[in-house]
Amino acid sequence: MNNYKLLTPGPLTTTEAVKNEMLKDRCTWDDEYKQVTQMIRKQLVEIAQVNEKDYTAVLMQGSGSFVVESVLTTAIGERDKVLIITNGAYGERIVDMANALQLQHAVYSVPYNEQPSSTEVQAILEGDPTITHVAIVHCETTTGILNPIHEVGKIVERFGKTYIVDAMSSFGGVPMDLSKQPIDFLISSANKCIQGVPGFGFVIAKIEALEKCAGNARSVALDLYKQWEVMRVDGKWRFTSPTHVVAAFAKAVEELSEEGGVEARYSRYAKNNWILRTRLASLGFNAYITEELQSPIITTFLYPNEGFSFEHFYQEMKKAGFVIYPGKLTEVDTFRIGNIGDIHKEDMIVLCEIIENYMAVKNNEN
Ligand SMILES: Cc1ncc(COP(=O)(O)O)c(C=O)c1O
Repeated sequence: MNNYKLLTPGPLTTTEAVKNEMLKDRCTWDDEYKQVTQMIRKQLVEIAQVNEKDYTAVLMQGSGSFVVESVLTTAIGERDKVLIITNGAYGERIVDMANALQLQHAVYSVPYNEQPSSTEVQAILEGDPTITHVAIVHCETTTGILNPIHEVGKIVERFGKTYIVDAMSSFGGVPMDLSKQPIDFLISSANKCIQGVPGFGFVIAKIEALEKCAGNARSVALDLYKQWEVMRVDGKWRFTSPTHVVAAFAKAVEELSEEGGVEARYSRYAKNNWILRTRLASLGFNAYITEELQSPIITTFLYPNEGFSFEHFYQEMKKAGFVIYPGKLTEVDTFRIGNIGDIHKEDMIVLCEIIENYMAVKNNEN
């Protein structure tokens, strides 16, 4: 298999150094390995711009969805009720989880290309005092829209509710100062903007909120509180930990710092995204999300014309070394191109040139 550049929202293109870390075997009981876990936990709290007195990072095996589910089952007790805000598939997945876990919940949905309104959140909280928690997705990777977690957070804080933010595809790539946001549980995973490989996710939790969660979980393996209880002692994971992935992640965190931190990474991603959007717009590919609401993570493009075949386009891009992503919308034909990972402006320029050539050939055929 070729070494493609993945223009997808994770797993994504990682550096050689990150991949190389996975060539060694490590023992989960060994102090050296446990220290790696502790170091990562500390660094994640730093990246979130908070301190270890008030916040802790808990790592959890599995893909991002496992970690979202672990937060829901651990943070939301039987007598609680969560307001779930949705404008895409990942918000809807939280609703699916709430149903499966039989959590009391209310849903506030808006169209996929619109942001939820904090005024509406306020009205819902005023109308239903039984709501105890609010859950929202930061970057809805379904479309690439960025949701106003800060504005919604102010309302959530004013009403004294617990705030859960799925920042899966944005944490590490979009500046997010938790010291200025009332987030109680922030969720992300190893294979997104920190640029590690898949295998675990993490939660940056306000200690005060996590402490209240003992005994809530209706799952053995996904009990975030118990995971924290064990992990906080010396970095030992409660059940088998993904050792290779953890080692790769430690390298990825080091590389984030070498790049200049989250601000520098954000600026690289934003540049990638700008090149992609402006050059594709001139070829007739319109973005589904307006520029003001667009994240620098992934862009959803509408098909440029009726004759456009995504399958053919995809195969041609793949032959040229780039793997792109199908759309996730049902009512319009779209595809997606991500620009996170070890992807630089030179890669975006090459990709745009390939797409320009592709479209020139297609236009000549018609
Ligand atoms: C915002 C968001 N939430 C949740 C998930 C689910 O993560 P996973 O597919 O790793 O289970 C994703 C995956 O891309 C995501 O982007």
